[in-house]
Amino acid sequence: MTGLLEGKRILITGVITDSSIAFHTAKVAQEQGAQVVLTGFGRLKLVERIAGRLPHKAPVIELDVTNEEQLAGLADSVAEYVDGLDGVVHSIGYAPESCLGADFMAAPWEDVSNALQISAYSLNSLTRACLPLLGEGSSVVGMDFDARVAWPAYDWMGVAKAALESTSRYLARELGPRGVRVNLVSAGPVRTMAAKSIPGFQQLEDTWGERAPLGWDVEDPEPVGRTVCTVLSDWLPKTTGSMIMTDGGFHALGA
Ligand SMILES: NC(=O)c1ccc[n+]([C@@H]2O[C@H](COP(=O)([O-])OP(=O)(O)OC[C@H]3O[C@@H](n4cnc5c(N)ncnc54)[C@H](O)[C@@H]3O)[C@@H](O)[C@H]2O)c1
Repeated sequence: MTGLLEGKRILITGVITDSSIAFHTAKVAQEQGAQVVLTGFGRLKLVERIAGRLPHKAPVIELDVTNEEQLAGLADSVAEYVDGLDGVVHSIGYAPESCLGADFMAAPWEDVSNALQISAYSLNSLTRACLPLLGEGSSVVGMDFDARVAWPAYDWMGVAKAALESTSRYLARELGPRGVRVNLVSAGPVRTMAAKSIPGFQQLEDTWGERAPLGWDVEDPEPVGRTVCTVLSDWLPKTTGSMIMTDGGFHALGA
């Protein structure tokens, strides 16, 4: 049986530990036949070590999504490993302390703008940087936490996710005529480094599994990785500008 992503060349950002959603996406992608190239932010030696835990060790390119020079060189760096891209995964989020579980109204613009740049605008920066390598039928996927409602503690990260949702729709509009799809996967809470840095997020983690009709395990990022790989595959060929929910069905309930 051939894999879902057989022969696909996929660039995956956002691996920092082996609980990262990006790590599990890379693992499932390789198991399904993809050739994976990773990008890492800052702690390259650590990311390389984690990359070594994948079924096939993946090369790691340095990328800070706020660094214009690194963005400008990204396509050339990727082209050293693969001759084009069929998919790009944006699995990046960051907000300064003042933006999470603190006094929402007191967060200074400097911090908020930092959160917006890294967590939302960067979907545009990354997609633009990869565009020379993206052909007809390729798929860009970003990671979302349902921003249609307000959550405890998520604060300005929620605002950044709302901006990410809108950015994905505008990118879908721009890139549809080139045959490039742009979608988000909206996941339930997963215990990763980013999630642990949100004070009060545990409140959500504790109740999610009880409320979600299909149940939910915050220690298991694999269902999210599988969903991202499905969106990267050829099996959602007319889906773009969409938010694909992978949350055990939590979003469907009012109470
Ligand atoms: N964990 C959850 O509960 C959850 C739920 C829904 C969506 N998400 C989203 O999934 C994505 C991945 O997060 P995760 O939970 O796997 O946590 P994680 O901590 O494993 O990953 C976050 C990644 O963002 C990267 N990053 C931060 N600043 C960067 C920069 N300037 N340039 C490039 N990379 C940068 C980090 O290096 C890290 O690899 C994020 O967008 C997050 O908001 C997470």
